[in-house]
Amino acid sequence: MCGIVAYIGHRQAHSVILKGLKRLEYRGYDSAGIALLNGGLHVYKKKGKVAELEAHLLLTGDEQNLKSHVGIGHTRWATHGAPSDVNAHPHFSGNKRLTIIHNGIIENYDALKKELLQKGHRFESETDTEVLIHFIEDIQQHEECSLEVAVRLALSRVVGAYAIVIMSADEPDMLIAARKGSPLVLGLGKNEFFLASDATPIVEYANEVVYLNDDEVCVIRDQQFTIKDVNDIPTNPYIHTLDIELEAIEKGGFDYFMLKEIYEQPKSISDCMRGRLNADTGTLMLGGIRDYVDQLVEAKRIIVVACGTSWHAGLVAEYIFEDLCRIPVEVEYASEFRYRNPVINAGDIVIAISQSGETADTLAAIELAKRQGAIVLGVCNVVGSSIARASHAGSYTHAGPEIGVASTKAFTAQLTVLTMIAMLVGRKKGTLKEDNYRRLLKEMSQIPRKVEKALALNAQVEYISGYYKDATNAIYLGRGYNFPVALEGALKLKEISYIHAEGYPAAEMKHGPIALIDEEMPVVFIATRDSSYEKIVSNIQEVKARKGQVIAIVTEGDELIASMADHVLEVPDTSQLLMPLISVIPLQLLSYHIAVMRGCDVDQPRNLAKSVTVE
Ligand code: G6P
Repeated sequence: MCGIVAYIGHRQAHSVILKGLKRLEYRGYDSAGIALLNGGLHVYKKKGKVAELEAHLLLTGDEQNLKSHVGIGHTRWATHGAPSDVNAHPHFSGNKRLTIIHNGIIENYDALKKELLQKGHRFESETDTEVLIHFIEDIQQHEECSLEVAVRLALSRVVGAYAIVIMSADEPDMLIAARKGSPLVLGLGKNEFFLASDATPIVEYANEVVYLNDDEVCVIRDQQFTIKDVNDIPTNPYIHTLDIELEAIEKGGFDYFMLKEIYEQPKSISDCMRGRLNADTGTLMLGGIRDYVDQLVEAKRIIVVACGTSWHAGLVAEYIFEDLCRIPVEVEYASEFRYRNPVINAGDIVIAISQSGETADTLAAIELAKRQGAIVLGVCNVVGSSIARASHAGSYTHAGPEIGVASTKAFTAQLTVLTMIAMLVGRKKGTLKEDNYRRLLKEMSQIPRKVEKALALNAQVEYISGYYKDATNAIYLGRGYNFPVALEGALKLKEISYIHAEGYPAAEMKHGPIALIDEEMPVVFIATRDSSYEKIVSNIQEVKARKGQVIAIVTEGDELIASMADHVLEVPDTSQLLMPLISVIPLQLLSYHIAVMRGCDVDQPRNLAKSVTVE
């Protein structure tokens, strides 16, 4: 959470930074701010989105300041201190000669603040970040050391997570950056440097980047950079070449990124399978986990750790792995797992699922599992992300950048990778017979085309959305493989339209949610034809008997459910274990249209952030 961008070079810093901050708004949009260096430090900040900062800067910014070639900027997801102009970053040191942007949380800020208050420091904001820059200033004054040394000394006493960039009025050719637990990427242009929370603000200008590691401090000075650890020992930076197209991070004619990303799914699923799965030759290969397939075959148990939508993908994986590989699976919220005292035995394998690869709880769960001797495999979308790097091995989902806060194409790409892993393991283990394996490969290769057909429901979904846009509650019900899809459908609706929605296994309805059903209540059934079809038909009847409004996602040609439901949405048939890839599509569209009709900001729903880098 929180996005940071810094620039030093020959361009106008403010335009590079503002553009970059807009790309990082998925990380938070409570306030935004920018500091420009022109003789002294000039800070502009505003509660609200980057567009408001931009208007404020262009209105009040001094022309000379706007010409500055050095600057730092921030878009905030509030933790310490409410969203306000004062709490917005950048923050000044007491003497106003230093300024800082920060993503993360300084956990011992209160103790540090008390210490500094006693020494006479005064604070303008309620943030932990302002404490950090005062602390650095204090060390620099008392130790009479360079800023670089003061930063290092301060960070060695700080507890918590951070990605920071510091700019000094006294050293105008320098930026100092450091990371621990929050991502930071250094972009290497021609005589110019960029620092950002991810590569999207950089891709337009440079294609070589260094992903900073934890405990590294990067100093950019006189058009050169050095990276050392907190103990001042130089490290060996690995220069990556970026593989992101500019159009992948632009809306491309769609009103919202979310809709664009929903529509990208036939392609993102194909991209995910490309070079890995070939139904004609019967081959399936996942290079990233090649060396761990035998361990998976031997695994006594698989523990999935994830959060949010990725956790729902993990639940589908539980069904798939148990079905195809006969390996017991436990799916854990990373945030619970990391603070329990989980039992991890020899022969357990942990699979961490994360779109961003930066979710703090998932990362911490991985570290815990590694400490207890488990093998950790990552399923991440963002290449080079912290979780991808912290895992022993893994498979990327290759869905391309996902910018809408509500996850869509990442979910279906996660399901695709997890299914491929389960098929590989099941085949090798002998629990997935050859004819079934071949049949599944064929079905997998048809999925992009079937997702395309499900997307053709868009106009019908939009029409149905008109009926339910004013609902205050909704229930989503599914069984078997479609149960996690019910959870995901409900999550999508609540996160972007603010309608309270709950997902349940359809049979559990009778143990509580049925009490809520009346003629006002929309009940979304994911009722495609599978092994529990008859059961779910009975559940639909139970809802209709209580006058609930039924919207049913059904398999093409299902006349029985059509005769009972208020609205049906027909999706193409496939194997039941692949059905979530298709049945989730109309639910994504339903939440999208309802949110648009309610006037919600689909890509940036209130209070949420896409990359949750705090616990
Ligand atoms: C946030 C996002 C969700 C996402 C979850 C886990 O809550 O809004 O869309 O599913 O984090 O994120 P991850 O990047 O680990 O998949």
